[in-house]
Amino acid sequence: MTTTNYAGLQSLIWHDDKLDLLDQRLLPEEIVYLPLVTAEDVWESIRHLKVRGAPAIGISAAYGVVLGSRAAESAEDWHADVRKAADYLATSRPTAVNLFWALDRMKARAEALAAEGHSLDALKQALLDEAIAIQSEDEETNRMIGEHALSLFQDDIGVLTHCNAGGLATAKYGTALAPFYLAKERGMNIRVFADETRPVLQGARLTAFELQQAGVDVTLICDNMAGHVMSKGWVNAVIVGTDRVAANGDVANKIGTYSVAVLAKAHGIPFYVACPLSTIDLNTPTGAEIPIEERQAEEITEGFGKRTAPQGVKVYNPAFDITPNEYVTAIITEKGIIKAPFDVNLKKLFEA
Ligand code: MRU
Repeated sequence: MTTTNYAGLQSLIWHDDKLDLLDQRLLPEEIVYLPLVTAEDVWESIRHLKVRGAPAIGISAAYGVVLGSRAAESAEDWHADVRKAADYLATSRPTAVNLFWALDRMKARAEALAAEGHSLDALKQALLDEAIAIQSEDEETNRMIGEHALSLFQDDIGVLTHCNAGGLATAKYGTALAPFYLAKERGMNIRVFADETRPVLQGARLTAFELQQAGVDVTLICDNMAGHVMSKGWVNAVIVGTDRVAANGDVANKIGTYSVAVLAKAHGIPFYVACPLSTIDLNTPTGAEIPIEERQAEEITEGFGKRTAPQGVKVYNPAFDITPNEYVTAIITEKGIIKAPFDVNLKKLFEA
């Protein structure tokens, strides 16, 4: 399906027994929804960044489990197919913990349903309901993150962000971009600086696009301009999303985030990280244990079809980096604003 209607653009729509997925590789030039009908379609879409952003990856994977188990003809086969699809989808990308969180939640739901002894149709419907719940809870969560984040911002300030942690990366609103949408609704003026985010340009193609569509004041800059813009006094705060927060508050996010955090500290600018609880991984003690995805060299040597580096040159292309917790002013979640000591305060979030 191709459309030119920008209003209410959603990254994922469950519709007519299939997942309609907005192909984010084509943005901002084309708006194309791909009909995904198998777990393999979902795996391929995650791996090749047709869908990206930690929460959106988790939501798609949840639907992938539904698609991968819907052909089963007995309750036993269905349960085996759920586990098989979840294990397979877990190999699509390594860094965003929301992927594993969503798959674990789907497996746990299937386990509970199987134990309750429902009809096959009821099992399939209940698992679909779980995926739908993951998506709708994400929307609500992001609105709460936005409220907390906005309480840190005043009218008429400049805020810098890196990569895309907006509506496109989530069910709606985004995490780091949520306060900008709420500010807009309330007539506040926040000037957003969007790093273009080499090499895949999530900042230029996605953040600049979605904020501009919403009428938010957004200025696109190259990644290497962030220090200059800060030195001018134009940036009052930095806010980014994250793919995984370790138990000690170290943060994995799109490559380049660490440099922005160091620059922010050098300029005395607060550095905020916005994420749902599903991005916090207490089982990973520090950033050093977070797996960092390495992607193909062509993203750097011939991104978007134009060769910009000599043939055969050695390339290193990590997709994420780790920002040590000492650079993080606060982590903003749906349950509130968390400050150091992160090892103690992150743990408290999960206590009843
Ligand atoms: O490689 P991507 O585009 O999936 O990376 C996305 C990011 O780094 C986001 O900042 C992060 O997933 C948070 S999205 C709310």
